[in-house]
Amino acid sequence: MKHLVAPSILAADFGQLAHDIDMINRSEADWIHCDVMDGLFVPNISFGMPILKAVQKVAKKPMDVHLMIEKPDRYLEAFRDVGANILTVHLEACVHLDRTLHAIRDLGMKAGVAINPSTPVELLSEVIHLIDVVCVMSVNPGYGGQKFIPYTYDRVRRLKALIAAKEASTLIEIDGGVAEKTAPALLEAGADVLVAGSYVFNSDDPVGTIQGLKGLLNF
Ligand code: DX5
Ligand code: ZN
Repeated sequence: MKHLVAPSILAADFGQLAHDIDMINRSEADWIHCDVMDGLFVPNISFGMPILKAVQKVAKKPMDVHLMIEKPDRYLEAFRDVGANILTVHLEACVHLDRTLHAIRDLGMKAGVAINPSTPVELLSEVIHLIDVVCVMSVNPGYGGQKFIPYTYDRVRRLKALIAAKEASTLIEIDGGVAEKTAPALLEAGADVLVAGSYVFNSDDPVGTIQGLKGLLNF
């Protein structure tokens, strides 16, 4: 499978959000990555339902909603209703992950699980068949523009092997510090989806930058 690219709108200009979503629509991007932060699970607060609703109005690509919130079960249906196509919860925020994954699927969305850099990927072993996308955090979640953590490569390789051993069709998404320096080795290690925030939105030519990420060799 050719890898996917998901620009993160955390780095967008919220004063002209429709313009930035339109840029993604016109680009080769596959998904629109939306980071929801509650100030509890992570130190930062980003945005919630009203912004997602605004994105939904203009988005022509699937919305990949990454929840960095405590007790996400409270809001699964609400996020579906504001446009989430892929809904990702954090393993560290879910006491009953099996139940949460079933609930997301029953609501008609694809189910994602994000894992912090310090969490062993092997903890996903039992439920991997229920996960459409594992979001491997390559920075500590909470902020855009952070430095990529190099031990991520090894985590991706181990996760890829786990998915193959279980004969699952789970995609591996990488989130944090994805740029021209890190992306090729991530694809080589087994990444299927590249999330990129500051690398795309801080560039002079965001459409061209997305095209560059899409054009990388897929291993
Ligand atoms: C971080 C978020 C990321 C963030 C990535 O907690 O989950 O999606 O937007 O930003 P960059 O690509 O700038 O590291
Ligand atoms: Zn994210």
